[in-house]
Amino acid sequence: MGNILLLAGTNRPGANALRIARVVQGLYEEAGIKVDLYSLHKMPLEIFDPRCYAAKPECWLPIQEMVVEARGLHIITPEYNGSFPGVLKYFIDMLKFPVSFVSKPVALIGEASGTWGAVHAVEQLQQVFSYRNAHIFPQRVFIPKVNACFDTEGRFSDAEILQRLRNQAEGFARFCEILNPELDEVTSGSASA
Ligand SMILES: Cc1cc2nc3c(=O)[nH]c(=O)nc-3n(C[C@H](O)[C@H](O)[C@H](O)COP(=O)(O)O)c2cc1C
Repeated sequence: MGNILLLAGTNRPGANALRIARVVQGLYEEAGIKVDLYSLHKMPLEIFDPRCYAAKPECWLPIQEMVVEARGLHIITPEYNGSFPGVLKYFIDMLKFPVSFVSKPVALIGEASGTWGAVHAVEQLQQVFSYRNAHIFPQRVFIPKVNACFDTEGRFSDAEILQRLRNQAEGFARFCEILNPELDEVTSGSASA
């Protein structure tokens, strides 16, 4: 099985989602936990061809495998019009089904310029992953007024939220360890979806 996979949940250039994903990556690494990071701005253009619902292009196959192999998904979502970005739903829809989701540990971070910190986006994502029988890590982190959380040098400077992110990352790593034997059965094909 692979590492925990951090997903920066938008393809918007210069996204805060990716900046936060890098902060969280640093927190995992400080704790000695290996993680991978994928940002949706790297999605190949070929995957946006409508024919991809039927057949995925060669370049997409490693991305699908990366998700299947991940021991947990740690997703950072912005709030776009009271929801998570459409491209994140499209990314999810292009994954292998159902093996990408069943028994997969999933942790969620929301970030927004508004005061609610993407609570709607996170809760809507919870619905999607619960529907697909993933295991949602209960400790979510919401980051309101996200642009104010970075200092002029681009460092994450909100100590309280940073501590929440640290607690979430360390807790999620333990959550994955507990649930990974079940996930192993799914990915090796010995459990029914
Ligand atoms: C298409 C779009 C829709 C947005 N809708 C909301 C919203 O509903 N609520 C909110 O608080 N902020 C909204 N924002 C602001 C974003 O939450 C804020 O810019 C956030 O940092 C964007 O995340 P990103 O930098 O990861 O793309 C929106 C931004 C975009 C681009």
